Amino acid sequence: MIYRILTIPDKKLRRKAEPVKEITDEIRKLAEDMAETMYAAPGVGLAAPQIGANLRIVTIDVAEEGQPAQLLTLINPEILEKRGQTSMEEGCLSVPNYFEEIPRAEFVRLRYTDLEGVTHEIEAEGMLAIAAQHETDHLDGKMFIDYLSSLKRVSAQRRVNQWNKEHSYAGTDYVER
Ligand code: NI
Repeated sequence: MIYRILTIPDKKLRRKAEPVKEITDEIRKLAEDMAETMYAAPGVGLAAPQIGANLRIVTIDVAEEGQPAQLLTLINPEILEKRGQTSMEEGCLSVPNYFEEIPRAEFVRLRYTDLEGVTHEIEAEGMLAIAAQHETDHLDGKMFIDYLSSLKRVSAQRRVNQWNKEHSYAGTDYVER
């Protein structure tokens, strides 16, 4: 099932998401629906707050076009360590129509639990490191535009308002329980 993606300035994007306490069938289904929503958008990453679910769940797939899918589902992801500096032009499904270069760490050590309940610790670099930082920020109510000047943030909101006049994300509204 595809969920409707929220755009700024929706307040649900600004909450600190709750840890997943137990990986139930409901959580597995939600993660599956998040992946479907991400691929349909299309995007390379999606965090649960972006569909209005206040949970620490992220889906990422940074496989290049034409390459096989490499879906990563991260439950309760935590960045343990950051090293180096890099930057890339980033976008966000919740800030459609706006792209900007954002400074990020080049390498991250990331801990997360998978859908089987197994905890992993991995070293990520490149696109995956950037996506991991961007998406875990979402779980703390932080958006990539927060790294920019207030002038650029105003311009981002204007671009989103413009986009919203002509487009909208299809999908079911997530109902919190
Ligand atoms: Ni985003």
